[in-house]
Amino acid sequence: MKNLIVANWKMNPANADEATKLADAVTAGVKEMAAEVVLCPPFVFIPQVSPSGNVHIGGQDCFWEDAGAFTGEVSARMLVHFGCSHVILGHSERKNYMGETFGMINKKVRASLDVGLTPVICIGEKTRGEGSENKEELASQMSEVLRDVSPEDAGKLVLAYEPEWAISSNENAQPAHPEDCTAAVEFMRATAHEMFGDDVARQIPILYGGSTNSENIKGFIDAGAAGALVGSVSLDADEFVRLVKNAV
Ligand code: PGA
Repeated sequence: MKNLIVANWKMNPANADEATKLADAVTAGVKEMAAEVVLCPPFVFIPQVSPSGNVHIGGQDCFWEDAGAFTGEVSARMLVHFGCSHVILGHSERKNYMGETFGMINKKVRASLDVGLTPVICIGEKTRGEGSENKEELASQMSEVLRDVSPEDAGKLVLAYEPEWAISSNENAQPAHPEDCTAAVEFMRATAHEMFGDDVARQIPILYGGSTNSENIKGFIDAGAAGALVGSVSLDADEFVRLVKNAV
């Protein structure tokens, strides 16, 4: 399976012209590369960005109902209509700023799988603690967000190990050590094994996210990550293309 690099643009760039420029530069830059890339712009810029070759489009969130009186929300089905193949779900910024709960994330996961959208589900501890405490947190997050997901559907999703303390916008953030990444990826795969069985657990790509750049990406891939969820660096086309190039 090719490595997967997911670009989380967050609430950037400032306007549609810049979004088009960024998407075009990245699409041209990664064209011949071995990785699959998913660009996740803010909803309003999704029409500026077209899937092409190894570049796919994703949302940064979605709602769990198809349509109705849910002011401000965008459904998984709407994302599909606009050419999205992926959606980031359960990002810590949504939990911390928007009060998103694991129960809500679970509904979003199931809604996106129902319409054939691949959820990229963020799992990660809040603070850098002792190994066993962190593991309990990861296991409980996985059991909540993947509740009532069938093994067949579980084989279609993507997980991202995103420790909150490593996300570059957080104070004193620092990337995880590759060894932290290996331990978390192995633990998450073992948890998936318990939930869904061995065949499914092996199929699930587990990405790493948190302060990745073109210099450190290779360390995370070598540590067992199947790719990365990239925040700030995804806004700099040249550096992002270098990151994708080194993600082998
Ligand atoms: P970062 O963000 O790469 O800027 O640390 C990662 C994320 O928030 O998904």
